[in-house]
Amino acid sequence: MRNIMSLKKVLPAVLLISNFLLISCGDRQNGHYFKGAIATVHPRATEIGENILARGGNAIDCAVAVGFTLAVVYPQAGNIGGGGFAIIYIGDSSYVTTLDFREKAPIFAKQDMYLDSAGNIIENASLIGHRAVAVPGTVAGLLEMHKRYGTLPLEDLLNPAIRLADSGFAVYEILAGDLEKSRDQLAQFEATRAIFFKNGEPLSEGDRLVQTDLGETLKRIRKYGRSGFYGGRTASLLEAASLEAGGILTRTDLQEYMPVWRPPIVFDFHDLKIFSMGLPSSGGILLAEIFNMMEGFDLPSRDPYNPMFVHLFVAACKRAYADRAEHLGDIDFVDVPMQELTSEEYARRRIADFDPTRAIPSNMIDPGVFARESESTTHFSIVDQYDNAVGITYTINASFGSKVIVDSLGFFLNNEMDDFVAKPGVPNLYGLVGGEANKIEPQKRPLSSMSPTLVFKDDSLLMVTGSPGGSKIITTVAMSILRYFQFDMSLKQAINQPKFHHQHLPDILYYEIGALEKNEARKLEGMGYTLKEISAYGNLNVAARKSPDKPWEAEADRRRQGKAGTVY
Ligand code: GLY
Repeated sequence: MRNIMSLKKVLPAVLLISNFLLISCGDRQNGHYFKGAIATVHPRATEIGENILARGGNAIDCAVAVGFTLAVVYPQAGNIGGGGFAIIYIGDSSYVTTLDFREKAPIFAKQDMYLDSAGNIIENASLIGHRAVAVPGTVAGLLEMHKRYGTLPLEDLLNPAIRLADSGFAVYEILAGDLEKSRDQLAQFEATRAIFFKNGEPLSEGDRLVQTDLGETLKRIRKYGRSGFYGGRTASLLEAASLEAGGILTRTDLQEYMPVWRPPIVFDFHDLKIFSMGLPSSGGILLAEIFNMMEGFDLPSRDPYNPMFVHLFVAACKRAYADRAEHLGDIDFVDVPMQELTSEEYARRRIADFDPTRAIPSNMIDPGVFARESESTTHFSIVDQYDNAVGITYTINASFGSKVIVDSLGFFLNNEMDDFVAKPGVPNLYGLVGGEANKIEPQKRPLSSMSPTLVFKDDSLLMVTGSPGGSKIITTVAMSILRYFQFDMSLKQAINQPKFHHQHLPDILYYEIGALEKNEARKLEGMGYTLKEISAYGNLNVAARKSPDKPWEAEADRRRQGKAGTVY
């Protein structure tokens, strides 16, 4: 990997600084002391995060509180039964790092565990129920972040989530809609029904959702820390329920789970320096490839729907996503030519056959990947008054994960095993194709697309961005950066305006309703593209500023009615 940065690289020093000292560091913005900015998918999580920032907590404290709160108020994706990635900037030492708390395959996982005796994929086996569950990483990740960089007591960060779980809240429209969409699958599991159903029906808007089991599970984390989740009652109940239902998750899997601090992927795009998540997420590598391929071309400074720009962006995406299938997997298990894939020299060669007049069909580029869409991930972005920042994207994979809640535990378990290639070279139920690099192996992490990302200019942090959206995460994040900086859109526009997406295979240029006007669409079709209009996807929750002398702003994507705020 290229040298991390021109930013100073020194060990994090923020640990030892007292709260009092930190509070005195606040910066004046608009005549007030700036305490931080935050954007999340849920208003209650944002408000709890704002309180942490207001009382002088740092971005890491805030992220930990938000991470636990979303597990309560946004059970579709917010979680303690899943995993994810954090990108963290410690302003005091100009240090960027990432924490990988991605789930791992259980020790008893086998490459062919989702195939029948004839070698065919067993329907839903990697998606629903205990066999779909990978070892959860979120609790270990949040606690590790707090241990290294947090400044407030852990219990202060868990208490708001515990209170919300115990006292309950009114089911909101989006949650009611998501429960309805998954009703048949959720109904298969008794403990899930007991919490999320009433009189045999999924909870409706306005019903009260009380989660006392989840509250108890969170209290054990508050009391015992890591071993309150990866040991003791939680681990025993999880193991027993898994084995009884034909799953393979054991106490040993839980005890051995550890998050990993990893260096970020870093690359330049004109005067921006961009840091993103490395393997086992494909996000950072693909972003580097896409931006590096575009860098050699004159981009328009207006009109992000200009067919020539769309054509170039898509050409870069097709090549990057093709590489994903061939080369990418858990870096702890497979040799990945990371340096080459993220180099400018490689990008120049890769895009050398770009034809400005026509689309090259995907089957002439390379065999590649179709990564399915998953809306059931979520991202939140936080900056604080001490010049620290955190972007976290975390997930239980599908909406409500495997749909399993273990009796007395109260939280959804992930179905992240489906992010592996169940049968190399053969599309799974959702069309995901890949190769050896992402096959199932014990204790391996499945390849992800989650891409929490930081953007700097002249060594100053200007943006924290990220989104859900499965394979579309990467193009969504790329667009948030391009629109805000290259096309000089407002943050609101950059996030909310309709997007387009191409991922090599299938060879289709997807666009959100309203993204392309008739004449732009016709022009692209004339160049050889097959277009498909699709409904809204992605959910960018972003904090950004145009330059270091401008105030921070935060914006939550209109698509899921989240909330963003700045705290003074
Ligand atoms: N589970 C979706 C992803 O990690 O990309």
